Amino acid sequence: PTPSPTSRLRAYLCRRLTPAIEAALHERFELAVNEDDSILPPADIVQRARGAELLFVTATESLRAETLAQLPGLRTIATLSVGFDHIDLPAARAAGIRVLNTPDVLSDACAEIALMLLLNACRRGHEADQMVRSGAWPGWAPTQLLGMGLVGRRLGIFGMGRIGRAIAVRARGFGLRIQYHNRQRLEPGLEDGALYFDSLDGLLQHSDILMIAAPGSPALRGVFDAERLARLPRGAVVVNISRGDLVQDEALIAALRNGHLLGAGLDVFANEPQVHPGYRTLNNVFLSPHIGSATHETRDAMGWLLIHGIEALARGQSPDNLLT
Ligand code: DGY
Repeated sequence: PTPSPTSRLRAYLCRRLTPAIEAALHERFELAVNEDDSILPPADIVQRARGAELLFVTATESLRAETLAQLPGLRTIATLSVGFDHIDLPAARAAGIRVLNTPDVLSDACAEIALMLLLNACRRGHEADQMVRSGAWPGWAPTQLLGMGLVGRRLGIFGMGRIGRAIAVRARGFGLRIQYHNRQRLEPGLEDGALYFDSLDGLLQHSDILMIAAPGSPALRGVFDAERLARLPRGAVVVNISRGDLVQDEALIAALRNGHLLGAGLDVFANEPQVHPGYRTLNNVFLSPHIGSATHETRDAMGWLLIHGIEALARGQSPDNLLT
């Protein structure tokens, strides 16, 4: 067989991937692996990946300018994530390092988790599970665990990108009315009847459920503060599948505690894997550990997208998932 154009590349794999993807990586690269799958702080990445031309990371590895500066041989970073807020892209660009990510292939899986959170937040999934699991269920009752029905409610999507639109497709099936805010309005073909708000505050004022689906970035850090959350109607629900740092935890916890918000569903947290202890004390929050893209087929597809991107780069092409 013709040798792969990537066969001599020295690569370091920061996190364990699915068996199919790890086998494919071993076939193609001179690969060293962080066998125990620990989350590596930057200093450890520098030490272990020294001499590697290709580095496989995920959103748990932070690659700031000072870390990249200590990896002089590095030519390509492949991140098993659609988000890239953990990588200093301008610094990578300046150092001539190309960065690949994994858009599109995870949109359906993330949308499924978004709906899981939405349904659990509106229909009190955590309390329901607790009642059965703890043995405290007294039996069916007409007024037990009443939640918020979805038909005719307004779902405000902040960040109507590929994942936002995959959420909208599913949410329409539940009878939700879709509206959104992006910096720029979508082309009519992509809007699919969703109502556009040119201001975030306008969207908040008119949404029964807020779905946070915009990509994480320094500019959005803390954007959902007490003032913004107060713009949501009383009894609204908040779902976050983006990045935890878009939300000010203290403000969200206060709004959930004082009854302004009915509930929340959170898959992402600031400073993961730490979770603000306030959330654990609240029964009206449904929590999941950043599992948006966590299906077998999606994680394989993410891995293949990176491999094909690296092979395209080796052939001198510019793959669609090349960030810089
Ligand atoms: C992503 O793909 O960005 C997910 O949040 C996992 O990191």
